[in-house]
Order: sequence, then structure tokens, then C-alpha cells
Amino acid sequence: MSEQPTTGPIGVFDSGYGGLTILRSLRETLPEYDYLYLGDNARAPYGTRSFDIVTDFTRQAVDYLFSRGCPLVILACNTASAKALRTIQQRWLPVSDDPSRRVLGVIRPTAEHIGRVSRNGHVGVFATPGTIASQSYNMEIAKLHPAFTVTGHACPLWVPLVENGEADGPGADYFVKKDIEALLRADPDIDTVILGCTHYPLLYNKIRKHMPQHVTILRQGEIVAESLADYLRRHPEMDRRLTRNATAEFLTTECPDRFSALAATFLDDDVEASRAILS
Ligand code: DGL
Repeated sequence: MSEQPTTGPIGVFDSGYGGLTILRSLRETLPEYDYLYLGDNARAPYGTRSFDIVTDFTRQAVDYLFSRGCPLVILACNTASAKALRTIQQRWLPVSDDPSRRVLGVIRPTAEHIGRVSRNGHVGVFATPGTIASQSYNMEIAKLHPAFTVTGHACPLWVPLVENGEADGPGADYFVKKDIEALLRADPDIDTVILGCTHYPLLYNKIRKHMPQHVTILRQGEIVAESLADYLRRHPEMDRRLTRNATAEFLTTECPDRFSALAATFLDDDVEASRAILS
């Protein structure tokens, strides 16, 4: 174990651009902290990859963020949270060179929050094929709210629509409407839908347009930010290790120029990214 606990920024990891929707909320809720964002754009999407590959890639990313001094890493990616978080927390972190570092995901806070929102306990989840196949939302929500009915629906085309800049185009209307109809056919009583993929908030306007008005649509950014604020209140030993100069640094495994240009549109802010090589 290291003699001095590392101090540094909060690491935020996503397979690509989607986690920027989480970072944005983190910076709004906890603006004083430093953040180091890593997007594995060169290997995205993760949503259709196998359990082992997502776990391997995510472990490499967490290792990289640790090596850059982050004492705490948020997996701001549902697919990575669904497939890799448990293995990282239970098998890898305890035998790493500093087991006091922490890795947190986005599914548990969302499952906790849903109990305060759904009125009739009928919940829908839109997510990648990997997250839906993992049944992570069904399991986490069942632990906390056993009476709830959770219906998942995979939307394999939503991430490519966002990544290709088509979120506001007519193709997005077609697929969003089709997927909403399929979800509501499976459970017409759904009153709350979780956007269980960090890319989906970028399709929010289309989703709202085609979703019946009585259905609440949950975006995860604020939920994750509130949950982190609560975690830091309960864990002052971790809070003390986080530096506070209100900075954000961006890393990508793809071309930094391309990342900077697209990230700026996601964040409404200038972004200068640099390249990270994971192994
Ligand atoms: N950002 C990922 C998630 O939240 C989806 C993108 C991907 O498939 O890589 O699930």
C-alpha cells in the first residue's frame, strides 16, 4: 500500500462522449473539485461488447486514472457499471497497490432514486444491449424496491445516432418512437422511464416528444451528482483526498482534436483534450 494516501482529481470514465452528460452535472453540483475525464472513444461503443472485454477495458481505464492520481473514479457509463464494477470493486481493487481508492458506478444511485419518483412501481429502462442483458437494473431495483416491476428495452441505434451527430435529425424520431412503442407495449402501466445510458440525455427532446406526457423521464446526471455529494459527506476520509481548484481535464483514446470539437458541443464550453493510451 502507498505510504501517503494519493490526493488528486475525481476520475470520470465513459466509453466515449456520453459521460460528459454526467460530468456536466457533477461540475454544476460540486464545482469546487477537480475532474479528470477519460473517454475510450477509440474502442466505443461498449454496449454490444462481451462481459469480459468490457471488464478488461474498464479495468485498464480505471488503472490509468489511478496512475494519474485520482483517488476516486466514477464509472459514468452504464455498460461499464453493469458489467465491470462488481469485479473491479470485489476482486481487483482489494489486491491493488492502494486498496483505499474507490470506484463508484451509476446504476445503484439510479435504483435508489427511482423509489422516490415512480407512483405505481412500473418502471421502464432504456439502455444498451449489454446493460439490458446484464439485468443489472432489474436486480438493483429488486433489492431496494421488491414490489416494483422493471421492464428493460435495448436501443442499439441510439448511441450511433448521438455519436454521428444525428440526435436532432428525422432518423432519431423514427427510432425513438419505435423503441418507446415497444417498451409501452411490453408494460402499458409504466409511469417512469430511466435513461440508462449516458448518451440518451442528448436525445431527450425526441424522447419527450414521443413519450406520453404522464410518463416521467429520468436523466442520471443530477442523480449521480447528488449521490456523489452524499457519498463525500459520509466519507470525509475520501473527501479530504480530493483536490479543489475547479479544473477539468479531458483525455481520449481517439484523436484529441475530434474529441475536443464534439465535447465542446456536449458541454457548451471549450475543451482541450489530450491522448491517453490504455493497456
Ligand atoms: N455510455 C455507455 C452507457 O452509458 C453507452 C455507450 C456505449 O455503448 O459505449 O451505457
